[in-house]
Formats: sequence, structure tokens, C-alpha cells
Amino acid sequence: PAEVVPQAPEDPLFGLMRAYKADPSPNKVDLGIGAYRDDNAKPWVLPVVKKADEIVRNDPEANHEYLPIAGLASLTSKAAELVFGASSPALAEKRVASVQAISGTGALHLGALFLAKFYKIAGANRTVYLSNPTWANHHQIFTNVGLPIASYPYFDKSTRGLDFEGMKATLRDAPDGSIVVLHACAHNPTGVDPSPEQWAELAQLLKEKRHFPFFDTAYQGFASGDLDRDASSIRLFVEAGFELVVAQSFAKNFGLYGQRAGCFHYVAAPAPSAAETTTRVASQLAILQRSEISNPPIYGAKIASIVLNDPALFAEWQDNLRTMSGRIIDMRKQLRSKLEELGTPGTWNHITDQIGMFSFTGLTEPQVLKLREEYHIYMTKNGRISMAGLNSRNVEYVAKAVDKVVRE
Ligand code: LMR
Repeated sequence: PAEVVPQAPEDPLFGLMRAYKADPSPNKVDLGIGAYRDDNAKPWVLPVVKKADEIVRNDPEANHEYLPIAGLASLTSKAAELVFGASSPALAEKRVASVQAISGTGALHLGALFLAKFYKIAGANRTVYLSNPTWANHHQIFTNVGLPIASYPYFDKSTRGLDFEGMKATLRDAPDGSIVVLHACAHNPTGVDPSPEQWAELAQLLKEKRHFPFFDTAYQGFASGDLDRDASSIRLFVEAGFELVVAQSFAKNFGLYGQRAGCFHYVAAPAPSAAETTTRVASQLAILQRSEISNPPIYGAKIASIVLNDPALFAEWQDNLRTMSGRIIDMRKQLRSKLEELGTPGTWNHITDQIGMFSFTGLTEPQVLKLREEYHIYMTKNGRISMAGLNSRNVEYVAKAVDKVVRE
């Protein structure tokens, strides 16, 4: 095939990371990749993860054997409780099939592959609706398995909030039975989430249209600092009786980025045959998993499992999550107030209104490029900034640079 393979463009986000690393400026600021940094701009190994890591290392029984195809059962069972709630009827009724995956991307891929193979409702279309904008990788994950994609409006440029009417109108006009990808919380890239009332309306609309919800949850514990609250959108849909799937990442909330720990969950709609349906689905997921990755990686899975299974460590994890989400909220406040002090043209309340790892600043592409070239501040071209890249020493520098480029 050599002569028919065209050169592909570099991944924009990883390209940005490379450019940042190569920049020799002492003033450089990385607001690109969505990875948590501490106040010294350094990656943060969660103290609870350090403890769990010690336990893994000191286990005399530990080895490097294969995990089962569906992964580490002590992880997947607790991961399901984490997202659906320990008392979820779906769990009690054995309507959930959980498979360990290669973090969020692997879970999305497994789900996409599963739907590409089995989502064949007579006459229904299989179009996957993605929010506009969404995490860039969503587009290629679904396209790569041959599912057609479309988008629904999400971000309102004028309010820098949710375009709820536009979102509803498109989902209402979409063919019945479409697949709809929803960010459970802390929407990437906008930092804008529907309110609980809006989620309830969406559940009703998707039900009427018989759409299939595909949840992506990569920031549970990061949006509000409260694990239950950040899972409430998914729980609402499960309570409403949907058949749905969830891709769950432990990259951000455990800081296990490179360990690729995560889970894919399938939930059957409540029915007398639901447990049997779930068993059938699990058997097919196992075949897909085996042909794709054989079985998932063990190390990060063990760490997450230890934390999720030990009440004291779990409590400490919640504390660590509050440290991360608290610092991010503090940076939002500081960036906003510095811009307001400078009298930077425009309104900046959206910086504190938005939640999670990112803020969609509203900066234009030329402004973003100018910030990169003249001030060595790196962010994605759509104006998204990773709030975790800000700290007490660079927030003023960033605010002043933004002020300058906005006035030019
Ligand atoms: C991001 O959006 O920055 C993160 O989710 C990292 C990634 O893999 O794209």
C-alpha cells in the first residue's frame, strides 16, 4: 500500500504539546493538554495514588500475569458503583455489563465498535450526534469504525453558555433512534454543562425520539468535587429506563493518565429479560476486546481498584479530588478578577461560570496564535484553556497577555 498512503496531519493537541516542550522561553505557559498541574506547574501524583502504588509494589503475591478479558473484576464492579451509585437498581437487577478498557478513548472505541456491529434497529439510522464543539478525538473514534457522524449545537457564542434551544431542536429533528454522545459533566472543551432541569428535559426528549445515549465521563469528581453530583446526569438517564452505554476514564480523576485505566459499561433497559440481554452483550464485548487488545493493562487498574475498595483510601481520594477541583476554581476566580481589574474589553464571568478542567475563553484563532508567538502561552486554536496550567505565579502574566491581544 506504500504509494497510496497519504501523509496525515499531526494530532493538533499532541503537536501543541511538542511545540511547548521545544520552546526555550522561561516564561512559557502550557494551557494546552487537559492534565492536572500543581501550583508549581508540575504533574501531581495524588497522595492516595502513591499509597496504593506502595501497596501494589509491596504485595508479595504480585505478578505480571494476564488479566481476564473483561479486566480486573474488583475494579470494574467498583467502577460501576462509582458511576451508577452503589444502590442503583440497574446493578441490583444485573443489567450492567462492565469491561475494563484502555482509559476513556479505549472505552469509547469499544462502545463505537460494539454499536457499529450491533446497532441495527430496523429502519433506524446509525448516525452518531456529537456536540458542536466536542473533544476532537470523538470525531475520528466514531468515523474509524464506519459510523456516520453529525453534530448538534451546544455552545452559544453570545452568552458563552449552553445553546439549549439549538441542541434540543437538532436532536428533535434527528432521525429516531440516533446515537447521541453526551459529556456526563465538565464538558470538553467548553466547560459548559446542562443544569439538572435541562438534563431532565433532555432525558425526556431522547426518550420520545428513542435516541441511544452514549455517555462520556472523564471528569467525575472534577466538575463539582463531588463524585455523586458529577454522575447525576448518567444516573438520571438510568432511572429513566434507557438502554445506554458509558465510557469512563480514570486518567484525570486519579491522575493515572499514562496507565490507561478506565471502563466501558453497557446498561440494559429494565425488562424481565434484561439480565439475560446483558449476559449476551457481555459475551460479545469479550470477543471484541479479545480481538482488539486481548486483555487490558494491569498496573493502573490495580491502583484504582485498591483506592475504590478501601473506605479510608476512598475518603482520601475524595480529599485529593477536592484539592484539584478547588485549585482550579481558585484559578478561575483569579484569572477573571485580573482581567476585570485590567478592564480587558468584553465580559469574563464565563470563566467562573464554566466548570471542570477547561475554559472556553472566546479568544479567536488569531489571538491564540499571537499569545503563542509573542507571549509563549500555549492553548488550542479554538480558545480552550486548561485551567490547571494556571498557577499563582503565571496567572497575572497570562491575564496581561490576554489583555494586550484582546485590545490589539
Ligand atoms: C484533552 O482534551 O486535553 C485531554 O482529554 C487529553 C487528550 O487526550 O486529548
